[in-house]
Amino acid sequence: MSPTLVQGAYIVAGLLFILALAGLSRHETARRGNRFGIAGMAVALVFTVLAAVAGRNGSGGLGIALIVVAMGIGAAIGLDRARKVEMTGMPELIAMLHSFVGLAAVLVGWNSSYEETAYPKIHDVEVFVGVFIGAVTFTGSIVAFLKLSARIPSKPLMLPFRNWLNVGALGLFVVLTVVYVLVPDTAVFGRHLLLGLVTLLALALGWHLVASIGGGDMPVVVSMLNSYSGWAAAAAGFLLNNDLLIITGALVGSSGAYLSYIMCQAMNRSFISVIAGGFGVEAGTAAVGDVDYGEHREVTAEGAAALLSNASSVVITPGYGMAVAQAQYPVASLTKALRDKGVDVRFGIHPVAGRLPGHMNVLLAEAKVPYDIVLEMDEINDDLSQTDVVLVIGANDTVNPAAAEDPSSPIAGMPVLTVWEAKDVVVFKRSMATGYAGVQNPLFFRENTQMLFGDAKDRVEDILKAL
Ligand code: TAP
Repeated sequence: MSPTLVQGAYIVAGLLFILALAGLSRHETARRGNRFGIAGMAVALVFTVLAAVAGRNGSGGLGIALIVVAMGIGAAIGLDRARKVEMTGMPELIAMLHSFVGLAAVLVGWNSSYEETAYPKIHDVEVFVGVFIGAVTFTGSIVAFLKLSARIPSKPLMLPFRNWLNVGALGLFVVLTVVYVLVPDTAVFGRHLLLGLVTLLALALGWHLVASIGGGDMPVVVSMLNSYSGWAAAAAGFLLNNDLLIITGALVGSSGAYLSYIMCQAMNRSFISVIAGGFGVEAGTAAVGDVDYGEHREVTAEGAAALLSNASSVVITPGYGMAVAQAQYPVASLTKALRDKGVDVRFGIHPVAGRLPGHMNVLLAEAKVPYDIVLEMDEINDDLSQTDVVLVIGANDTVNPAAAEDPSSPIAGMPVLTVWEAKDVVVFKRSMATGYAGVQNPLFFRENTQMLFGDAKDRVEDILKAL
């Protein structure tokens, strides 16, 4: 296979990936964006395999057979997982997939350390950088997986001098890299020892970076690890001399970094502090569980239906609970029923509602809620004070007034949907339990708030019946 043909195919695949990213930035074009991505990946895979086999003078048949078997096993596991995963399990699945990219970069780095190249010193640096980013991504993603799937608590790990530990690890990495470059190639044991040390150092750093980040900042961590996995792939691209891997890695790395930046802005957090593992976050802003907010009021589905019948404007603010209950379908039917009666119904979407960027938008699109009534938090917040009824369906942290009013709250400063300004608020949830950040929500005890307990899907269906 001619190298020019392969390079040409790589350019086509790179362009398809750029079109995919552009398409994914809007609901209306997301499907098309996905198709571009699939096409780009197909071109990339076919030409990479053909090029690899062509380079193996004579053992091409065996090479193809091995690659096909490996890809077959991977595809079978991937298809099975993708078919079975619930929308609520998506974040942890993605975190797990990021860890594979990190592990792959570590393995490529170790493998490549045995290679002889024309520029050995530059190659040494590439090996170290690849292994370092890969190992940080690997353990960081595992901790994110454990936190998102609630296998370990989401509260931040507060080791003493934790910021200095991170800075020290980075400094040590630089020193080890310089020593590795200076050690002669003949000192095989010494070089392996250094590579082993940097791998362990990066594994520990990745673990610590993500473990130090608290529950409320996890959305940023997910997109940050997405970014790290891109840089890990790009580093592997340098080691494997694969231009497409470098381009793709850089696209994922930079778009992930930009997404992290946007999410930090949405949550009023410092980008640098979150990517540096919670740098600057003071210890001591623990969950406030013992404040007495008074009594809460309950409402029945019939009562909520009566409120809705008399309303002329309704805003629905969905959250993670809507995803758990899979309530988007009855919510779409309720929206249609109310709109048919002439009620103005709109949705208010918080940027980190649910457990994934765009989580609520995906669910509502799946249930065919019209895009033009689904508004961002900034677009709807000013209208909430003129709204008759707000239905908070399985949302909690994203509608917590403490974020705006209580400077000692762990989520203080995070912009929230100001639902309490509406005339009436109905909160759908199963109990008085806290949300992801583990913070009590004073909204539940406000005079204009009524709790509608139970599974969100069942309760919305009950309201539909009552209407
Ligand atoms: P949360 O604060 O997580 O609250 C969800 C609420 O849904 C819970 O209080 C729960 O109360 C209720 N719920 C669960 N299952 C339910 C069911 N079947 N029926 C009815 N209610 C149910 O939700 P949110 O407002 O969407 O906030 C998201 C949180 O996740 C934020 O803290 C955010 O930082 C974090 N986070 C977000 C992301 C991204 S990227 N979006 C990623 C990681 C973490 P009950 O148990 O009482 O029912």
